[in-house]
Amino acid sequence: MTKEEKYIDLYTQIKGLLEDEVDEIANMANASAAIHNAFQFWWTGFYIVKNNELVLGPFQGPVACTRIAFNKGVCGTAWAKADTLVVPDVHQFEGHIACSAESNSEIVVPLIKNETVYGVLDIDSRDYNTFDETDAKYLQKICELLN
Ligand code: SME
Repeated sequence: MTKEEKYIDLYTQIKGLLEDEVDEIANMANASAAIHNAFQFWWTGFYIVKNNELVLGPFQGPVACTRIAFNKGVCGTAWAKADTLVVPDVHQFEGHIACSAESNSEIVVPLIKNETVYGVLDIDSRDYNTFDETDAKYLQKICELLN
């Protein structure tokens, strides 16, 4: 199966999981589990905007930092830019927040509703160069299912 085919199946699975449930936390929990298990990423989870900072939400993987400020780290930068960030080598990203020393590449997708970022999806990989435009495209589509 190609990565794209895997994402198409994953999208269908998550759509089904989310369509009869409106609770944001329940949906983020199942979405993070489905993504994480489909690709065996190192860390997959959500941060939610609360009182002008990102606070750790549902995730799969090792324990993580609980709070990230606006414009800090990859997550805070994706929030500030309201745009997806693909980071092939986190050690080259100025200000990267190392929740885990094992993480080497990362993608962060903002969750946007009514033109406002209300959280981010963050995925970390132990390999370099894990994420590309295909990941960005399908993870953005998956994030839209949360709205
Ligand atoms: N690396 C992220 C912090 C979150 S952890 O990876 C789970 C960042 O730089 O924003």
